[in-house]
Amino acid sequence: MPDQVPNPSDGVTSAHRDLLRRHESVMPRWLTLYYDEPLELVSGEGRHVVDGEGNRYLDFFGGILTTSTGHNIPEVVEAIREQAGRMLHSSTLYLIRPMIELAERIAQLSTIPDAKVFFVNSGTEAVETALMLSCTARSSNQVLAVRHSYHGRSYGTMSVTGNRAWSASSLSPFVVSYVQSGYRLRSPFGPLSDRELTRACVRDLREVIETTTAGDVACMIAEPIQGVGGFVVPPDGFFGAMKEVLDEYGILFVSDEVQTGWGRTGDHFWGFQAHDLVPDLATFAKGLGNGLAIGGVVGRGDLVDSVRANSISTFGGNPLATSGALANLDYLLRHDLQGNALKVGSFLLHELATRTAALGVVAEVRGRGLMVGVELVEPGTIVPSRAAARQVLELCRREGLLIGLGGLHGNVLRIAPAMSVTLEEAAEAVEILIHALGGAP
Ligand SMILES: Cc1ncc(COP(=O)(O)O)c(C=O)c1O
Repeated sequence: MPDQVPNPSDGVTSAHRDLLRRHESVMPRWLTLYYDEPLELVSGEGRHVVDGEGNRYLDFFGGILTTSTGHNIPEVVEAIREQAGRMLHSSTLYLIRPMIELAERIAQLSTIPDAKVFFVNSGTEAVETALMLSCTARSSNQVLAVRHSYHGRSYGTMSVTGNRAWSASSLSPFVVSYVQSGYRLRSPFGPLSDRELTRACVRDLREVIETTTAGDVACMIAEPIQGVGGFVVPPDGFFGAMKEVLDEYGILFVSDEVQTGWGRTGDHFWGFQAHDLVPDLATFAKGLGNGLAIGGVVGRGDLVDSVRANSISTFGGNPLATSGALANLDYLLRHDLQGNALKVGSFLLHELATRTAALGVVAEVRGRGLMVGVELVEPGTIVPSRAAARQVLELCRREGLLIGLGGLHGNVLRIAPAMSVTLEEAAEAVEILIHALGGAP
């Protein structure tokens, strides 16, 4: 059971229920809440959070891979407090020192030659910007996207999202063709070796370009590891091999690093680095600000400069978000959280893979670094089991562990704690998960 922190209120069990009732009367129905009895998180420390009724949990979803360094990190909190005490906002009509400094750091970290950066407020806006830049530079509205992908909630980003559960509309500013993701389970390419799988998907990409486009495609956008898609990890080099074909056609490559950036994959700072390529543009958000609303695009200077009209984001790059993000970036680099993601992520993957091997409900444990996915099925089949995933989510909560869900069918457990997570915390989470999986139908 989660530790009970003394709660001054007598109405311990009604606090969440009352808030839920108010939530339901004013918030949209499609704004999904986790759990049969949803909870409010009111404070956090490191990798732990406390809910509105005083229960303490290990946070292994980090606000959807956004709490990158941890909750309430003093250095990050102090930078935000200090900036808030001086000025929240000025707009990009004026020079913004922390924005420029952050752009310099990201441009250098990106490995993209002569890179420039544009800041926005979310992953959706970052992807919108990358699509606008690609389409402007290439004078085309044709885009290649990947099946099982997720890129955001706007019309543009939904139209490159290959997951029906997240596509609320078919309206699209783009003409989109979808290519293979490298996802194996239920794929006709599933049984192939890594090399054969990559070769088959590259052949398919060429055929998609030749048969479904008018040739002058602007870009291909891909997540190096699909996040919402359930931590789908294609073979190393997969997108690099695809990029060789894209290069033949002059098609730009956009790496959506909203989930994979900042060292979370452990082996690399950016997800694209597992694919032996340098993207033309990369999008980022989530982990950069550790919860502050900040996203952006980093890319080839000529592409970022290619917009021929004025363009502005009122809040993009604001002093508060960029000061906090700078402190957060400093913290994760100084403490080598990428190295920690590799160490703890490898432990999680190994423990979960070996200890679930005999469980019929687990079809696959996969991932990289601190993006660990456990795909659940009806025992003895590959039929997705959303019910099992929901049940495990509930059981974990009861034992004091918060995790996430994903995958096309909502049947993949997603485990993605802050990158400062310790081995002891990971071991505790594994015990809870194994116990909960044992109780799954
Ligand atoms: C890969 C990827 N791109 C884009 C987005 C959209 O980001 P946001 O929700 O900040 O708009 C997400 C969000 O989960 C994402 O995972």
